[in-house]
Amino acid sequence: MKKKMYFIIFGANGDLTKRKLLPALYNIKNKTQNSPEIIATGRRAYTTKDYINETKEPVSSFLKQDYDKEKTEEFLNAIEYQRIEFNDKETFISLKDFLSKQNNIEDIDIIYYLATAPEFFETVSQNLREAGLTESKNSVRRAVFEKPFGRSLENASKLNSSLSSVFSEKNIYRIDHYLGKEMLQNILFIRFANCIFEPLWSKNHIESIEIISEETQGIGTRGGYYEESGALKDMIQNHLMQMLSLIAMEPPEKINAEHIKAEKLKVFKSMKLYDKNPEDCIIRGQYTAGEINGKKVPAYRDEEKVSKESMTETYVSLKLRLDNDRWQGVPVYMHHGKRMPRTGSEIRINFKSCSCEGYFEKMPQPNILIIKVQPDGGIYFRINAKEAGTENSIIPISLDYCHACQNIGNIPEAYEVLIKDSLEGEKMLFTGWEELKATWQFTDTISEAFKTDKIKMNFYKAGTKPE
Ligand code: BG6
Repeated sequence: MKKKMYFIIFGANGDLTKRKLLPALYNIKNKTQNSPEIIATGRRAYTTKDYINETKEPVSSFLKQDYDKEKTEEFLNAIEYQRIEFNDKETFISLKDFLSKQNNIEDIDIIYYLATAPEFFETVSQNLREAGLTESKNSVRRAVFEKPFGRSLENASKLNSSLSSVFSEKNIYRIDHYLGKEMLQNILFIRFANCIFEPLWSKNHIESIEIISEETQGIGTRGGYYEESGALKDMIQNHLMQMLSLIAMEPPEKINAEHIKAEKLKVFKSMKLYDKNPEDCIIRGQYTAGEINGKKVPAYRDEEKVSKESMTETYVSLKLRLDNDRWQGVPVYMHHGKRMPRTGSEIRINFKSCSCEGYFEKMPQPNILIIKVQPDGGIYFRINAKEAGTENSIIPISLDYCHACQNIGNIPEAYEVLIKDSLEGEKMLFTGWEELKATWQFTDTISEAFKTDKIKMNFYKAGTKPE
């Protein structure tokens, strides 16, 4: 029989817990036999009853079509709340006492989920260790850390050494929730289960690669965090680079965590700015007041906890290259921005034009393969065909597959996939330290370029794109 497992959330009063973690745990409970006992911890002096009352409304609304009144109540009523003050060691000892009262602590598995601001990762981990909650001869002690993992290579390295003194690498799970998205997992299938693509997948047939993520939303109440991070560290260093690595890596020897991570790492290490001068391949922007879907929205500088003189970027566009044989010379464009005209993430593989001059009335348009990550995951492929009723006229046609529409109700949210993997000890969809090191190293070169005045800030109206 499986051991009893506890899932202990730090930062349980935060948005992420209510919007993503608890709905994911609810779905896991309803789909599997072995769901963990949940302990929600936070600084607020709530009773368990207060916490459940407070959480009921947001969790129910984020469950959307999965909401079932009875099941939601049963799920929430099983949560325990414990007050934890990150700097107060005694509160960690109380947590241990609580666990010991109900169990022989050596016989239970524990997953810690740190949905806190990253500056608390070290304190929480060290206090867990001092309370005797991080080691066990017989049972699992894993820790899941939310992003961002560090703010630079130096800072992430310090953080990593400190966490490594508490948990072994095997037990550290660094989240990049994009890796849990269905269409990112699908990249491996699209690339390696269709052997027609592999011979085309290189500089010989591909003109450029674009990794795009646009959001109509602004930064909401996260001004404090975003001022430190900006678009570069919030999205490019992690989600967009992860998308690129899956698209550009060599076929791994086997589809498992070890081999995939090894290939992804080679991609991260090969990333370079396309041109010698950073200003020729980096654009940054910040949104000013504007309109989104007919509604007026404030400028970034007028958002809560944002400086009136802020030079933090809410838009970044990069032109990179991968310094390896397969991709030599192929430009890779990455674009991410907040308060854009639309919300969507996709990967565009732009193929080279055919050398078929003189065959047809018009030149055919180059083929494009688009992996649509969201809002509706799917695959789009543009090819050319004869225009009906003509003799020699060509038109582009599309093969457009909507993965999300075909699988309504069957596609788990990224957090559900990742939490389930963390319970099962499956690390393929988590970021390894070596990967992070390489992505930070490259990101640092862009942050350095931002510090010079060569890369001008493009102020763009919310709801538009920077020029
Ligand atoms: C988070 C960023 O990691 O990803 C947010 O901190 C961003 O700023 C979010 O909005 C986007 O995630 P998704 O899944 O909505 O595309």
